[in-house]
Formats: sequence, structure tokens, C-alpha cells
Amino acid sequence: MGKNPWFDKWAQKAKQKGYPARSVFKLEDIQQKFRLIKKGMFVLDLGSAPGSWSKYACRLVGKEGKVVGVDLQDVKVNAENFFFLKKDAFELDSEDFKKLGVEKFDVILSDMAPKTTGEAFVDHMRSVKLVYQALNIAKKHLKSGGHFVAKIFDGSKLSEVKKDIAKEFKSVKLFKPKASRKESKETFIIAMHKK
Ligand SMILES: C[S@@+](CC[C@H](N)C(=O)[O-])C[C@H]1O[C@@H](n2cnc3c(N)ncnc32)[C@H](O)[C@@H]1O
Repeated sequence: MGKNPWFDKWAQKAKQKGYPARSVFKLEDIQQKFRLIKKGMFVLDLGSAPGSWSKYACRLVGKEGKVVGVDLQDVKVNAENFFFLKKDAFELDSEDFKKLGVEKFDVILSDMAPKTTGEAFVDHMRSVKLVYQALNIAKKHLKSGGHFVAKIFDGSKLSEVKKDIAKEFKSVKLFKPKASRKESKETFIIAMHKK
């Protein structure tokens, strides 16, 4: 990985801007195109380690907003408006959010990714499972009118997943950020305005 000049360019750029990973540029691309996150909002960031998306979201929501990160692994974010739950997204419950003074979120992001096997179909199905879990969380904890973003590894179930998400939102689009690696099989589902 370290020898890939493309990877190094983005990773270095992220470090210079104070972010732990180059994935921040994917959320930046999404934000520039769809303008989902605004000052004062409450944002839930599922699969937040090492913390680039959360850090960027903290900057966007400002002091009046809150960002709650969830991950199995530790997150490197030091911000007053950041709260972290070291948990499996399948084990989250309402009490976790209530303790942080949040009942519903304005935006729910999921950059969760399964451990990859190299078997495209297996990786796709594992990723689909994570997207459905993020959707379940959004059904319960996203405000009406709120927005949902989920990463999915491309595969045969993508259109079915998109249809299921479309039942809950007024608009659903697929987006490939410029900052994703060229060979990357990931797509972001951008679901806006929860019904
Ligand atoms: C691509 S990384 C996220 C990068 C992050 N958006 C950033 O900008 O730093 C994917 C993350 O999903 C997390 N993840 C995978 N399955 C999860 C689960 N069931 N619950 C919580 N986090 C999970 C992994 O631990 C990993 O840290």
C-alpha cells in the first residue's frame, strides 16, 4: 500500500489537513455535491474509526452540533462536540443515544466495511448486511426529513438494497466519490429526506 503513489498522495494530503485517513475526501466529495451536513446538526457516524469522517463532520456541525461515532475499534478524534461508542452497530440501542442527550439524528452516515475475504460475492453480501443494519438504525433514530449515507461494496444486490432504502426516503442516488480509488468497488448510497 505504502508504495502506491496515488495512495500516498491522498494519505499525505489528509495528514496535512489533520485527518487520520484519506477517506475524509470521500465525505468531502459527498458534502460538496449534496450539502447534507449543516451547522448545529446531530450526526451519527457508523464505522467511524480511525476518525476522519467524524472529525470533518465535527467541523461542519460546529459547537452547537454533535457527532456520535460508533466503531468496534478506537477512534482518534479530540473534539468537544464528539462522542464515541465503542460498540458493534448490531448491538446499539436507544439507551446508548439517550445517555449522550440525543434521541434522533439529522444525518446518519455509514462508512462501515466488513473484513474483506477477496471473494467479491462474500464481501458484497457482508457489506449488504451492514447497510441493512445502518438502515434499521436510521428507521429508528433518524428524524423525519433527515438524510442517510451508506457505503456498499458493488454486487448483484445493489439495486434491491437501493429499492428498500427508497421505501423510506423521498430521493435515493448512487454516488462514486472522486476520492475513491479507481479500482475500488465501493458505491455510496445517498438517501435524502426521510419520509
Ligand atoms: C473504512 S473504515 C471507516 C473509516 C472512517 N469513515 C474514517 O473516515 O476514518 C470502516 C470501519 O467500519 C467498522 N465496522 C465494521 N463492522 C462494524 C460493526 N459491525 N460495528 C461497528 N463498526 C464496524 C470497522 O471497524 C472500520 O473501522
